[in-house]
Amino acid sequence: MKSLVIGGNGFIGTNLVDGLLRKGHAVRVFDRYPSRFREPNPAVEYVVGDLGNHGEVADVVQGVDFVFHLAYTSLPHTSNEDPVYDIRSNVVDTVQMLQQCSAAAVRKVIFISSGGTVYGIPQNTPIKEDDATDPICSYGITKLAIEKYLHLFHRLHGLDYVVARISNPYGEQQNPDAKQGAVTVFLGNLKRGNPITIWGDGEVVRDYIYIGDAVQALVKSADYQPGPDQHRVFNIGAGRGYSLNQLIAAMRGVVGKDIDVRYTPGRVEDVPSNVLDISRATAELGWKPEVELEEGLTRTWEWLKTLQLA
Ligand SMILES: NC(=O)c1ccc[n+]([C@@H]2O[C@H](COP(=O)([O-])OP(=O)(O)OC[C@H]3O[C@@H](n4cnc5c(N)ncnc54)[C@H](O)[C@@H]3O)[C@@H](O)[C@H]2O)c1
Repeated sequence: MKSLVIGGNGFIGTNLVDGLLRKGHAVRVFDRYPSRFREPNPAVEYVVGDLGNHGEVADVVQGVDFVFHLAYTSLPHTSNEDPVYDIRSNVVDTVQMLQQCSAAAVRKVIFISSGGTVYGIPQNTPIKEDDATDPICSYGITKLAIEKYLHLFHRLHGLDYVVARISNPYGEQQNPDAKQGAVTVFLGNLKRGNPITIWGDGEVVRDYIYIGDAVQALVKSADYQPGPDQHRVFNIGAGRGYSLNQLIAAMRGVVGKDIDVRYTPGRVEDVPSNVLDISRATAELGWKPEVELEEGLTRTWEWLKTLQLA
């Protein structure tokens, strides 16, 4: 089996590459930048390029069975500033890539969507895949649009796919200086001895999934062989919610010291609660998360301690 991971040098990508190698896949990575925190793996074929370069993408999809699509140019909190860029660089370039996958007879595309944004303000908790999808940020809309194109390409061209609506992943290889990823950003601040800043009162609830568990779901998505009318869209989360205040209490136990927390006004694009119902993935992919929050935080903290943070 040969897998291409587009965006394979990022947080989820580097962990996914390890998971695919463990499963015996040959792996090609396509990314515009090298990995931030580690050296290239000699077992991996690296191709430098941009999803927006259609010639490069046409070449890189040749000869692969599975394409994992992780490259994304926007973030939930900033995507509303330039929705046109979000559409052009994500939807347009992804649809172009799907045409090239179809022409190259790729077996399946596994797309990393967003369980945290496609539903918008949830009507039910936990959220099921068939619940209403009304994103309150452009990023959620472009993720949904790509999901719909995957469905269309499957119908029109037989290109198989799985959509993984991942909640809030955290763990090793996540950038502590990024604009998203509360767990690792907070732990990075703690490592530097800085306070933690929280938007709002800390009662916003999220579904935090350890990266190793999310990767297991993605690897299983490649093996999954659904019939024509079976589900191809899955929530991938822990299936359990923690408020930011609860998260910080758990971190206090892991780092073993008091935490200085500063509260600032909330952001409009933060939905009050987002917890995913993962029963479909459990039943159909044969997957379930195994790493509890405290264990995941401990692993992330141990990894962060090995980094030289400026
Ligand atoms: N991290 C999260 O909280 C989270 C949650 C749900 C879904 N996702 C989705 O998972 C995917 C991966 O996220 P991540 O956290 O690993 O992000 P990341 O920023 O760590 O990694 C993304 C990688 O894609 C590459 N990339 C971006 N645009 C590219 C382009 N046009 N051409 C080639 N390479 C490009 C980047 O260089 C980077 O290495 C994204 O699609 C993201 O929307 C992330």
